[in-house]
Amino acid sequence: MTAVEVLDGDHHLFGVHTTSMSYVFTVTAEGLLRHLHWGAPIALADVIIEPIWALSTNDLIHDVMPQEYPPHGRFRYNEQCLMVRFPDGGRELDLQYQGYDATDTELTVHLHDPKGVDVDLHYEVLAVDAIKRWAVITSDVPGLVLESVASAQFAIPFQDLTLRNVEGRWGAEFQQTVQQVRGKIVLESRHGISNHHHSPYAVLSREATETSGRVWAAALAFSGNTKTVVEQTQYGQTLLQLGVNDFDLELTLLEGETFTTPPVVALYSEQGLEDVSHRLHAFGRSLMSGGDRPVLYNSWEATNFDVTCDGQIALAESAAAIGAELFVVDDGWFGRRSPDATGGITDGLGDWWVDPVKFPDGLAPLITRVRELGMDFGIWVEPEMVNPDSDLFAEHPDWIYSEPGRTTDTARGQYVLNLTLPAVQEFVAKMLDELLTDNDIAYLKWDANRPMSQVGPGRDVWLRHIEALYAIVAQVKRRHPGVLIEACASGGGRIDFGALAVFDDFWTSDNTDALDRLEIHRAYSLVYPPKAMRAWVTDVPNFLSQRSIPLQFRFHSAMFGSLGVGCDLSTMSDDELAQCAKYVEEYKALRPLMDQFHRLENPSRNDYRLFQYSSQSGAVLFAFLPQSRLGHTSTTVRLRGLEPSARYRFTHDWQQREASGQYLMSRGIRLWMQGDYASTIIRFDRVGN
Ligand code: GLA
Repeated sequence: MTAVEVLDGDHHLFGVHTTSMSYVFTVTAEGLLRHLHWGAPIALADVIIEPIWALSTNDLIHDVMPQEYPPHGRFRYNEQCLMVRFPDGGRELDLQYQGYDATDTELTVHLHDPKGVDVDLHYEVLAVDAIKRWAVITSDVPGLVLESVASAQFAIPFQDLTLRNVEGRWGAEFQQTVQQVRGKIVLESRHGISNHHHSPYAVLSREATETSGRVWAAALAFSGNTKTVVEQTQYGQTLLQLGVNDFDLELTLLEGETFTTPPVVALYSEQGLEDVSHRLHAFGRSLMSGGDRPVLYNSWEATNFDVTCDGQIALAESAAAIGAELFVVDDGWFGRRSPDATGGITDGLGDWWVDPVKFPDGLAPLITRVRELGMDFGIWVEPEMVNPDSDLFAEHPDWIYSEPGRTTDTARGQYVLNLTLPAVQEFVAKMLDELLTDNDIAYLKWDANRPMSQVGPGRDVWLRHIEALYAIVAQVKRRHPGVLIEACASGGGRIDFGALAVFDDFWTSDNTDALDRLEIHRAYSLVYPPKAMRAWVTDVPNFLSQRSIPLQFRFHSAMFGSLGVGCDLSTMSDDELAQCAKYVEEYKALRPLMDQFHRLENPSRNDYRLFQYSSQSGAVLFAFLPQSRLGHTSTTVRLRGLEPSARYRFTHDWQQREASGQYLMSRGIRLWMQGDYASTIIRFDRVGN
């Protein structure tokens, strides 16, 4: 049962079914859309429409009854999906059910307010065992102002839910939070980008572990200001709403004009968190370009802004020797980009010409050498920004966001370009097009190193900026198919399903400490696919943690993401370079097995961190022990995602062994590691069945 189902009887009953869930709602006598079920599969024919519980005259239907898309007005006191201002100043909405359209996989329900607003609610069944929801608002009056417009509301018939999301900041993105839902929780971004602090999703559960328990999850595909609201009602439910943030937002629709909200992907599982992750990863992968991500070398931590043609060629030669497939020149190659005496940088951004001092003959000698070495070439850009001392700013001081009569602040010495201006869009698109046309470039790292601020009078720019960004990236990809684009925003500031639909690779954090990264990647993997989780091995002591972690641990940690190397290879000994080459080779051999990602349980009192990939042809176990304590206690690793009846060959305790998938998943293997920063990888090859 994976389809849209409609029962037209006394009540209209709507069902949207995927393999593991049903989503059901109905139309009330008042013409409202009453939410009935988001959970395990049920047949519409069985649905009992229970009376609405109202004990007193204070329990009013609009407040008590969970609705699909509650607008502002009547007795509604919870968060509302839609708030408008009519030309007459009126603000109450009265959305009435009008009818529906249905195909096998998509249901559209039409709502109408006689004062001049149409709302279409869309429900699409996705192949990844999830649904997609979004809303389309049409104005039938001239100048309808949208003050708040969410993508969807969901209702869960329990009050005792646990909410998972992330918190953090630069250098500490994706720190998992697990909290009991009490009252109302708002997770939002006001930074103009999806930000370092939270991520636009909610994973709600009851007694869930990785492999058991009920989980409701929903994630918004948008990279700008977002708002996720989780709210307990007084009537035993929890409401969940996701959408663009209404903070400082106002969208004006002309007569006949529409606004389409970003979509939300939603799913339900009774198999715990891992099942939810796998289905969300499948959704993410369905948006992303295919193929393995290349092993890259990036020069940022090695050189910072101090790039030169000869220095980069020397790094490229070493990078090729250790097996890198892509060489990326980071910041510093353009304009007059160099830190001043105080270390500040106020120049370069906007002037996307090659620095003639650092590259006297342009980029060609470097790119030619990189290609001769058998690698692809990639380059760093920060297209949405401009520095005050640049030629671009001197020519177009009015191209930045600014408040009338005020001075605009810089952050990291730079301004944000007003990407909602057609001239700016044209400039950015042309600059990228020329860069990619004139040079043999296979990869762009697209950075954004400051949040938006002081955006001026236009209150729609929070949204329009991101729409323009998506359009420019899509245009670049259309004109230069095959080019991969990495999203970076001072580390992991721009990771969400909206970004996943246009970018190919994601820089999760500037924190490259191999131990910190284990937790960043664990939390990232709850919702986002590890396929595009870029991780570099960098030098020690780490610039941020000042920790010196052994090379093997650093490689193993980076290898469970998409491997990159950011070390200063010119300072490494031949022996270290040979070790790097060995790990890169090992990673390439493991890459085909790295399909489904598992966060394994550690039953030991010793702090093992256990992760696994599984695929049709085998599995890879990544085990880490940051610090050996308690007399080197062992752990037992029970694998997941194997074929129970198949046989797997692996090397363990220096012996080659063979076991069934059933055995490895039920009994598991004992793993005993010693020392500080111990790590190991065990490969399981499917040999029979
Ligand atoms: C940001 C990125 C880094 C690097 C620098 C360059 O901080 O996250 O990886 O590209 O910008 O300025």
